[in-house]
Parts: sequence; structure tokens; C-alpha cells
Amino acid sequence: MSNIFNIALDGPSGSGKSTIAKKLSSKLDILYLDTGAMYRATALKALSLGIDTFDADGVSTFIDDIDLEIKYIDGTQHTYLDGEDVSERIREPHVSMAASNISSLKCVRLKMVDMQRKIAKTMSCVLDGRDIGSYVLPDAQFKFYITASVDVRADRRFKELTLKGHKVDFEELKKEIEQRDYNDSHRDFAPLKQADDAIVIDTSFMSVDAVINKVLSYIEK
Ligand code: DC
Repeated sequence: MSNIFNIALDGPSGSGKSTIAKKLSSKLDILYLDTGAMYRATALKALSLGIDTFDADGVSTFIDDIDLEIKYIDGTQHTYLDGEDVSERIREPHVSMAASNISSLKCVRLKMVDMQRKIAKTMSCVLDGRDIGSYVLPDAQFKFYITASVDVRADRRFKELTLKGHKVDFEELKKEIEQRDYNDSHRDFAPLKQADDAIVIDTSFMSVDAVINKVLSYIEK
């Protein structure tokens, strides 16, 4: 019998999924697959080609042959596009909105979901995303839906970007998060959705360690 297991962590932007997923994967000594990075790299590709991120016909000209690779260096995920490590570039604020836009295209989702399923089949991992428990891996052994209020999420993103030297306006950032929430949960195909059998954790007033302990308590049960 296979010992491979998957943990799905879904939720809206800025809910703390990636921080939780990173720590959890290192505690359990399994991989962390940041699926958002894949949508971000796809958006970067469209931007570099001057293709509108809502233009399904334009995007379909490159999506099947996209040279997108996920590699792990010292246990950390690096995202490669056309052979270049774009792990930093895909975090730039303008790429966030472009990723949310492009992720609404069915041709993009089918390609990404196929890649994600292949990775999850070959190794145990924590996957963070929007549709992991509801669509990508409906049979995942563990499913969590991580959320937080919009204000708390905007505040976290503000601190993260400011620390990296980006100049951002809090109200703008909050509006952008609300817009991404709307896009991500209203697209036709595999939207952001809480799986019926997911455990919901609101992290608004919880420390990272408290969330990790809660998740681990369910896994160890
Ligand atoms: O988690 P993130 O902010 O890096 O994700 C960037 C965008 O990618 C997000 O706005 C929605 C999309 N996304 C998705 O549609 N499905 C996923 N499994 C992961 C991300």
C-alpha cells in the first residue's frame, strides 16, 4: 500500500496559507507545493508576451507548451519559467492581479491541475491553493480551509510588501484583495471553494503556531 498522503490547504489571498503550509511541511518532512506560484508564473509569461490575461485565445497559444518547472532547492520551492528562476518576480504586486485574472481561464486551470495532480501522486505534500480540496484532489486525506477577515489579510500583505521595500497604499491593497476574492470565488470553472469535508480555521486572531497546532491535532487524531 502507498504511504503517500496529501494535505489540501485552501483559502482566500492573504489568509496565511503559505506560512502555515511551509511550517507544516517542514514539521512533517514532506514537500510544500505552492500552486499559486504556478498561476503567477503563467501570468508572467502572458505579460512578457504582451497577451491580455483575460484573453483565452491568446493564452491558449502558449499554455500547452509552457516551460514551467517546479524545483526544490534545500527544501524550498523555486519556480522556473523558460529556464529562469522567477520565484521573486512572480511576487510583484502587478503579477498578483494578473494571476487572479489568468486563473479564471479554463485552458490554464486544466493545464495547472494536471501538473499538480501528477506531483501529488508521486509524493506526499502540503498543497496550498483555492480549489485543491474541492477540485484538484477531492480524495486528499486532509483538507483545511484557512481564512481571515479582509482587514487582517490586507494588514498582513501590507506588512509583507513594505518589509520587502514595496511602496503600497493600505486602502488600495484592501480593494485589490477584495477584487481578487471576488474573481477567485466567482469564476465559472473550479472557483475558490470550501470543500464540504474541509475543516475551517479562521486565523484572524490566531498566531501561526496556534494554527499549526490545530492542524496537527486533526492530522494526528
Ligand atoms: O495564492 P496566490 O496569491 O499566490 O495565488 C495567486 C492567484 O492564483 C490567486 O489570485 C488565484 C490563483 N490560484 C488559483 O486560482 N488556484 C490555485 N490553486 C492557486 C492560486
